[in-house]
Amino acid sequence: MASGPLRPHRGGTAPLSFAQTLQGEGLFGESLAESDRLSKHFRKRLGLVRGVQLRRRMNAALADLVAEHRIIARVLKTLEHWAGSVARRGADARSELQGFTDFFSRFADEHHHDKEERVLFEVMIEHGVPREEGPLGMMFREHEQCRASTRQLVELAHQHHPWSDADRGALCAAASNYSKLLLLHMSKEDEFLYPMVTRQLPPVLQRVAQEFSRFKTHETGEDEYRRLLLLAESLVARHGPRAPGRP
Ligand SMILES: [Fe+2]
Ligand SMILES: [Fe+2]
Repeated sequence: MASGPLRPHRGGTAPLSFAQTLQGEGLFGESLAESDRLSKHFRKRLGLVRGVQLRRRMNAALADLVAEHRIIARVLKTLEHWAGSVARRGADARSELQGFTDFFSRFADEHHHDKEERVLFEVMIEHGVPREEGPLGMMFREHEQCRASTRQLVELAHQHHPWSDADRGALCAAASNYSKLLLLHMSKEDEFLYPMVTRQLPPVLQRVAQEFSRFKTHETGEDEYRRLLLLAESLVARHGPRAPGRP
């Protein structure tokens, strides 16, 4: 992809590169242990950039990512709620878990995270943000951790023998860890990374939007995208905290 010019950093006499700006924020730590503290820090800081003003300025491509986060978050909360209910009932629900793993593998791992990595993050790297360290290094590592969590759930969903109490305990722990990890990851992107991209890389965002659209059509497929949204809706309706008749 071709590089576009960078907007001068607000309030500074000399323009900072996008990479310098991110590095200068000093917000991204290297471990998950630090992430809770950092997330609180993001929220406090982002009193400045959240809300209507930001959404008005946010490019359609980034707004799409935020919308996908909302969908993923709802299914994560549904998964946690459902796993608790399965444990309480002592149920063997391998086939139902396959619905969740289908959604998280195809929509979160393969559509959403791949799209970020192969389009948005590549643009950031073109503008000097390091791939292996700092904010992008952290985002890439968290995507891998999310994919590892999905694989853990896939193993439980496809295990050959019925679930034991230990398996149900493993399900609850895996669902809770995955949910915490991915919710925190998405909040970092919503509240820090995307606003930063919006401020610093506006000239390339139109191209990112076009690439996202191409990705959805040619990589994921429009029909598959619609199927996954319907699957999300069905999982939330059947197993979400407010699903009728659910414990
Ligand atoms: Fe991400
Ligand atoms: Fe994301």
